[in-house]
Amino acid sequence: MSFDFINTHLHARQQQALLRTRHCVEHATAHEITVAGKCYLNFASNDYLGLGETSITANQLAPLGSHSSALVTGYHWQQQQLEQSLCEQLGYQAAMLFSAGFSANSSVIKALFQDQSVAQHSAIFQDKLNHASLIDGALHANAALVRFKHNDMNHLRSRLEKSNAQHKLIISEGVFSMDGDQAPLAELLSLAKQHNAWLMIDDAHGFGVLGNSGLGSCEALTAEQRPDILVITFGKAVASSGACVLGSQAFIDYMLQFNRDYIYSTAMSPLIASLTLARIKAIQHADDKRAKLNANIALFKQLASTHNLAIMPSNTPIQPIVLGCAEQTLHVSEQLKQQGIWLTAIRPPTVAHNTARLRITLTTAHTPSDINYLVSSLVGALK
Ligand SMILES: Cc1ncc(COP(=O)(O)O)c(C=O)c1O
Repeated sequence: MSFDFINTHLHARQQQALLRTRHCVEHATAHEITVAGKCYLNFASNDYLGLGETSITANQLAPLGSHSSALVTGYHWQQQQLEQSLCEQLGYQAAMLFSAGFSANSSVIKALFQDQSVAQHSAIFQDKLNHASLIDGALHANAALVRFKHNDMNHLRSRLEKSNAQHKLIISEGVFSMDGDQAPLAELLSLAKQHNAWLMIDDAHGFGVLGNSGLGSCEALTAEQRPDILVITFGKAVASSGACVLGSQAFIDYMLQFNRDYIYSTAMSPLIASLTLARIKAIQHADDKRAKLNANIALFKQLASTHNLAIMPSNTPIQPIVLGCAEQTLHVSEQLKQQGIWLTAIRPPTVAHNTARLRITLTTAHTPSDINYLVSSLVGALK
């Protein structure tokens, strides 16, 4: 059998300015990144609070490996402690950890509809801009996948009204990863209630950053208003890795029976679980860092508007500038690199066709002069 298609596809990606390559990072903080011996100002990190630079010590040195699946001998007390702490803080009965947010999202959706007789009477309603992991989960579930226009509650309502599915699941991100805007949680919750649907929120980019204590998009909600399923990830503001899925006891018990990623994969490292818990405790006392981050966001928005940069309606650390053309976006990103700024060009299929963008992420670690320099460099490069 011939595998020539590999070269054909690589060539096509290259021709369309969509080829992905990796850069080996020699050193990185939320402020700086060193690649090939050159140090750049880092405006592409998801370590929004700059916590990656702070050292943490866990109570006791935990093992690096969990040695097996959580259902065999891989479920250690460090993981249980992290789950219990998150349940208490976020107001859920039960939780389970995954080594990656991608796996958490896709596997939970797939497992929820694992029963064919349930799936054929089910529909999954997803925001058009939902993360690939959420879409992949729905594509692998046997339920109908219904997309609604981004944050458009009228469109979602009409889709729900037209559906005669018995089991409805609405899925949205709390903060959208490539646009930086927030989901209208109150309206999503009320539509879910009206249509007897479940609501699942992926708060990968809200946890740590939003809410008075950094508990994310759902912090201000009352117990009755909480989404049925909440996913938080540890690879962004927590500056660790992995994810936690929270829900009712029955839901988590169900996942323990049917979630194939959880059952057939080595459980999260106890060392990561223990260090992650220490980080999350620090996040709750990081009001000063959140205040500085918000001041940086406000400064960027103010400077961008003074210079007529076309930013998006985002109040979060994710501040994209959509240029449209992938080639131009790559070119601008290269120009910025020459000026010492690392800003990744985000291109299709990560974002929709003709919406290639510079995804600027601001962090607590940036200074006002870094942000001034970023904006003046952007103005020059976009001329
Ligand atoms: C919204 C969203 N959900 C889930 C994920 C996946 O999380 P992880 O990086 O832990 O696999 C990401 C990260 O890329 C994300 O942006």
